[in-house]
Amino acid sequence: MKHTRTWWKEAVGYQIYPASFKDSNGDGVGDINGIREKLPYLKNLGIDFIWINPIYLSPFIDNGYDISDYQAIHPKFGSMAEFDALLEEAHQLEIKIIMDLVINHTSDQHEWFIESRKTTDNPYRDYYIWVDGTPDQVPNDWQSIFGGSVWEYDEQTGQYYLHIFAKEQPDLNWENDQLKEELFTMIRWWLDKGVDGFRLDAISHVKKDEYSVKATENPFSPFQNVSGIDEYLTELKDLFDEYAIMTVGEASGVTAQEGPKWVGEDGYFDMIFEFDHISIWKHEKEGDLDVLNLKKSLSAWQEALDGNGWNALYMENHDVPRLVSVFGDPQRFWQDSAKAIGMMYFFLQGTPFIYQGQEIGMTNMPFESIDQINALDSKRLHQELLKEGKTPEIALDIVADTTRDNSRTPMQWSDESYAGFSTNKPWLVLNPNFKTINVVEQEQDDSSIFHFYKEMIRVRREHLGLIYGSFKEYLPEHAQLYIYERYLTEERYLIMVNLTDEPASYVLPTELDTKWQLLMGNQKDQHFEIQGTLAPYEARIYRKK
Ligand code: GLC
Repeated sequence: MKHTRTWWKEAVGYQIYPASFKDSNGDGVGDINGIREKLPYLKNLGIDFIWINPIYLSPFIDNGYDISDYQAIHPKFGSMAEFDALLEEAHQLEIKIIMDLVINHTSDQHEWFIESRKTTDNPYRDYYIWVDGTPDQVPNDWQSIFGGSVWEYDEQTGQYYLHIFAKEQPDLNWENDQLKEELFTMIRWWLDKGVDGFRLDAISHVKKDEYSVKATENPFSPFQNVSGIDEYLTELKDLFDEYAIMTVGEASGVTAQEGPKWVGEDGYFDMIFEFDHISIWKHEKEGDLDVLNLKKSLSAWQEALDGNGWNALYMENHDVPRLVSVFGDPQRFWQDSAKAIGMMYFFLQGTPFIYQGQEIGMTNMPFESIDQINALDSKRLHQELLKEGKTPEIALDIVADTTRDNSRTPMQWSDESYAGFSTNKPWLVLNPNFKTINVVEQEQDDSSIFHFYKEMIRVRREHLGLIYGSFKEYLPEHAQLYIYERYLTEERYLIMVNLTDEPASYVLPTELDTKWQLLMGNQKDQHFEIQGTLAPYEARIYRKK
């Protein structure tokens, strides 16, 4: 076996976007007690850990990713005592808890920044990145990930500060040792409390290039995976190594070739979320799914990390639209495409993450007006499109298709009022399809997407070869099918998925001509043929007899 056995390699994760998961107190916002209420649901699904998006004190300009106090819980989510109870109850059920760690930036309401902006000689001044300039002369032309300049002029002291996201999210200055010490003390505080690890937000951005450096064709290159970042990440790793935890870094701009440096035996993190197969900040509406490109990027990561690191596998999160709407067909093949795309990524080598609602095939939201949208980057894009001269219909259409609010609509628990999410009007619009797409309905139906996920989790857990086995792709040039084998000594598995809404025929090489037994699939009569046809969005996994 090329990989040492470790709990987080054998685990399946579940991402909770707390504001939209379950509201326990009827204020329309999901909360910690809502998560506690649903722990038995998660246990029944079979997952091993949850990653919770930020629940810290925050003005909520970027939905909690603008933190004003790292060691306090936002009252809308509950209290620290309730968090402690969640941690204990989850641990009793053998579910681990991974927290979101946002240390590239804080809120402009964090006391460090309030101090920092007061005077140029304030002790906290250097915790952030301040540069000389005049109101009409920005330091350089770097563009923020949320749009506009990365520089914000501050009249009080006549300097600019840097923010690669919103202006209310000033970037921390990682060159300041005292700042790092404070961050590390805070991290230890959470670890000593007993949390089981972190998802590190925007961590490939902590190092910035010289201000004279211009962006390449990638507008974010001057502050994305910049050379010298290893020094900071090694300091973090040394801290994490003191604890038996799991870490997963959000690492835009890191290539598969660089993967081993980030997640190998001596890598900075246990896993990273790579961005190749999902282009998160893409603003324009996409055409048909580019199957060949999708396969190429997934396979590249599989090959680069086999024996050299570990993948975090995901198709959805709180920043991207729903997989069935982007990669599948939510109308004609809703159930089959949700299952097929689920199977496609789930049996790759790595730790699979499921985003809330993905396990019931939740779809994009048919937004009818810009007022239904909350995400700040989407609102900004809408304004820009109108400025460019797009009609209101087209502008809304583009935003509706690409906004991350598609995956942030409330979890659909039942067909009751407010989808069983709350007893009150939710903070974000509810997808009207909750009457047909909901948990209660799917728990009762053995052929549902929910049961399919439950089965995939069970199958993966029962076969070590599906966890640690190596990856081999077949027919890489096939424009419809993704076919791969996982093998570990004598164990062999074959995964075959049609990623399109058309039947797909194939001829497999003779080395696969052996006796394969179906483990699971999404159609009837799925016996193996060396040459045959897969129905639209058909998915199968076999085991060698
Ligand atoms: C990450 C988060 C995203 C957030 C951004 C700024 O990409 O996933 O939701 O807006 O960082 O913190």
